[in-house]
Amino acid sequence: MKPIDPAILTALHQLLAQDDQPLYRGELTDLVEQVLERRGFYLDAARRFGTPQYLFEEPRLAAQIQRFNAAFARPGLVAHAHYAFKANPSLCLVQAVERAGLAADASSGLELELALRCNFERIVLSGPAKTDEELELALAHADGVTVHLDSFAELERLGALAARRQTPIRAGVRLNTQGHGLWTKFGIPFTALPEFAALAARQSHIHLEGVQFHLSWNRHANGYLRTLTALGPVLAQCAPPAGWKFADIGGGYYPEDDEAAYPWLTRRGRLLALLGLAPTEGPPPDWDLGYLLHPVQPIESMARQIMEAFQAHLPAGLEMWLEPGRYLANPAVQLLLRVIDVKTPELAITDGGTNLLGWERLEGEHVPLINLSHPSLVQKPCRVYGSLCTPHDLWGFALYGEHLTPGDILLLPAQGAYVQTLAQRFIKPLCQTVALGLDGELRQVAPHETLADRYPQLG
Ligand SMILES: Cc1ncc(COP(=O)(O)O)c(C=O)c1O
Repeated sequence: MKPIDPAILTALHQLLAQDDQPLYRGELTDLVEQVLERRGFYLDAARRFGTPQYLFEEPRLAAQIQRFNAAFARPGLVAHAHYAFKANPSLCLVQAVERAGLAADASSGLELELALRCNFERIVLSGPAKTDEELELALAHADGVTVHLDSFAELERLGALAARRQTPIRAGVRLNTQGHGLWTKFGIPFTALPEFAALAARQSHIHLEGVQFHLSWNRHANGYLRTLTALGPVLAQCAPPAGWKFADIGGGYYPEDDEAAYPWLTRRGRLLALLGLAPTEGPPPDWDLGYLLHPVQPIESMARQIMEAFQAHLPAGLEMWLEPGRYLANPAVQLLLRVIDVKTPELAITDGGTNLLGWERLEGEHVPLINLSHPSLVQKPCRVYGSLCTPHDLWGFALYGEHLTPGDILLLPAQGAYVQTLAQRFIKPLCQTVALGLDGELRQVAPHETLADRYPQLG
């Protein structure tokens, strides 16, 4: 046998001695308990409206918004939260966000139109490579819209369009954070801000008022703290004629404990599979149904650290703008499914398929799947699949439930963010949305997709 390169052996040794992310063993039983406390309500929703069903709960959204706003409240600091539509632009959710008094973060002309139709008074238009049509739409509503510019070329284009229609418009500029991999796609580097501010000052109709950055998937405040520390000196170095008014620190706040990692998908687990020491797909035969949780800093302490850094490093008096999506939307939507086929006690198939999630996410992430019809706080091994013609249509490898029979109602909690917005028209129709209002009433607010929805040309 050829000797193995010692560098590879050392790297393997290091890899196996550590885990890739800070993960700890645990269970999501608190989440399961919360769901089971409302079991009667969820079963009622399934009985009245059928399955599959996205069930939006406005009271949950309102509570999450309240918690977020309270976390970012601090004397001497003006904070404005803009809901990131991309996380979930369902009409019922967006309208509920507007009722709760948040501003809007739109990332396309379509989202901007939706925000305008839903009467949002404050809107940021964000995102790369905006078209002239999108910029024109922002200009037509310049009273309420701030455009976050993504490049020097976009500054020139918006400047020309604004001058042509003699419409002044407020703007921010997106900054990209060094070392954020693919994310350098967005905005301009910190170092280019002085030049950008100087060029913007020459555009008679553009009022540059602030900067924007965004970091995704933050389970703690460190990324924000690092970025704010770096941003302070840059903002002090240059300012638009009327001074800086805001810094938009984007979204990326992570909800606590609503998903977990499978142990066989850590770096160590994948390496074992690659070496042929574990199966390449699914759990190893000795899996004990355990999961690994990511520690998530509660929003209150995360916000406190962010606000302290904001006030310590940025010029005094700046407004803090935020763009939360996932944190607000995720707990507000649950997915209800019905078991159609039980092939063995350890293999069942439901009516909905994972086209309702948009991609094969649950092969790689664990979200507790709960049998509302035969509830239990204990998991049993069971592969629960959806009804699409693909083996990757999987809801999970285990089920919280006593046992399983056809007709049972299953619930997948916390599916509000990046689920409905990513759902695919793959094989099966998209499903209905049912909403629980603040008045306690349940209503179907969007129907199941029909043939006519998908093929309007058939008439
Ligand atoms: C600019 C910007 N703001 C806000 C968000 C929302 O992020 P999250 O849903 O993680 O809060 C995103 C998501 O990609 C984003 O790119």
